[in-house]
Amino acid sequence: MKMLKALRIAGVALAVMAVPAAGAQAADMDRPVAARQAVMKLNGFYMGQLGGMAKGEMAYDAKVAEGAANGLLALAKLDTSSMWIKGSGNDVLGTKTRAKPEIWSTYPDVANKSKALKAALEDLVKVAGTGLEGLKGGIGAVGKACGGCHKPFRAEKK
Ligand code: HEC
Repeated sequence: MKMLKALRIAGVALAVMAVPAAGAQAADMDRPVAARQAVMKLNGFYMGQLGGMAKGEMAYDAKVAEGAANGLLALAKLDTSSMWIKGSGNDVLGTKTRAKPEIWSTYPDVANKSKALKAALEDLVKVAGTGLEGLKGGIGAVGKACGGCHKPFRAEKK
């Protein structure tokens, strides 16, 4: 009788474990993943304005340029650590994210990439509103810092 009870308890435990843990975890990751992608979308928006002006596809406007540079720096200063939860890479979440697991396995490399972006943005905010030449002088390093993180840590679009 005792044995049977033990087995039954064990059976319950096994049944609980058989519930796909990965699925439950993946749902918990939805909001942080959406949040970090939203931050990146804003990065893309501001960078699109600055790049458009630098390439001459958009008329240079000091106020817009300064606003975009300040916006990027503000984004770089956000504490987004709670959006980058270990186990929320594309090895676990598949096509829901383009974040590669190397973000966590090579840590703190990714943090250094963030620091590099912030440094480039601190330079950009000083020059973006001073004229087209100023913007052109500062935007290259920022673009490099975005790409410098995307190359190792962001998967291709599927
Ligand atoms: C420290 C690393 C890092 C830096 C720096 C970085 N990114 Fe990203 N970016 C990522 C990762 C990782 C993803 C994929 C996120 C995901 O899908 O969960 C991403 C995604 C994106 C996306 C796609 C967002 C979407 O899901 O629609 C855009 C656009 C983007 N980044 C723009 C930028 C721009 C512009 C910069 C520079 C101003 C930048 N990023 C700097 C790591 C970085």
